[in-house]
Amino acid sequence: MLEVNDISVSFGGLKALSNVSFKIDCGINALIGPNGAGKTTLFNVISGFLKPNTGYVKYNDFDITALPPYEIFKRGISRTFQNLNLIKEVSLKENLYLGIIEKMKPSLLKDMLRTSKPFWKNVEAKIEEVMEITNVSKWGDLKPESAPYGVLKNFELARALISQPSLLLLDEPAAGLNNSEKENLANIINKITSMGIDVLMVEHDMSFVSNLSKYVVCLNFGCVIGYGTYKEIRENEDVIKAYLGDIDA
Ligand SMILES: Nc1ncnc2c1ncn2[C@@H]1O[C@H](COP(=O)(O)OP(=O)(O)O)[C@@H](O)[C@H]1O
Ligand SMILES: [Mg+2]
Repeated sequence: MLEVNDISVSFGGLKALSNVSFKIDCGINALIGPNGAGKTTLFNVISGFLKPNTGYVKYNDFDITALPPYEIFKRGISRTFQNLNLIKEVSLKENLYLGIIEKMKPSLLKDMLRTSKPFWKNVEAKIEEVMEITNVSKWGDLKPESAPYGVLKNFELARALISQPSLLLLDEPAAGLNNSEKENLANIINKITSMGIDVLMVEHDMSFVSNLSKYVVCLNFGCVIGYGTYKEIRENEDVIKAYLGDIDA
């Protein structure tokens, strides 16, 4: 269970998050709200990239607020980024290897690179498995520039899955995808959830959100203005005014 309690973040004079609190349990949950509402900032706090000015984040009752990103990652929280983070000089599969290295504690890196063959055999098997789950097995040898955008997004997801997370944070997973890619992604997210991985996603596509999510949290100007099932959120006056009013749902 993820508990976000009284989180505030300021960037100079700008209050990006103001006393944000909510809890999410298992399954698929969504974080919605207009651009600039603070959604990515909140992901950065949960995943340890940014330290809040007030409040705490607990995961399975353990306070993770002060931990560095790789410690939070070790505790089972993995994420994707709003902008693709793939390195263009190497193949997509090699990007998955780099993803593993990048998440290691810096002081362990040297030892890991010298580490024994069985370790890397194990990594290889894991990489094959996550490529299979995300339907990208046949694209592994291509460089990012040679693959469609939807495939690149799935590689981002594959990379986040390698560590066998228990909670996956997805920042705008459906952005830029066409309808069939979105359908493919929804199937993958459902598959991941049935494997016991919980999901919190930031997403603007409301039919995507309503089809998948158990609970929805809505942020506006850094404040939580609504929380509940999609149906409840859809009827929430503040949410309609701030965000959903002009969306045909
Ligand atoms: N590193 C930063 N430095 C200064 N301002 C930032 C930084 N990151 C985000 N912001 C600002 O904080 C607000 C929230 O941004 P963000 O969390 O990216 O919103 P969202 O993901 O909901 O679109 C915006 O006004 C944004 O410009
Ligand atoms: Mg964002």
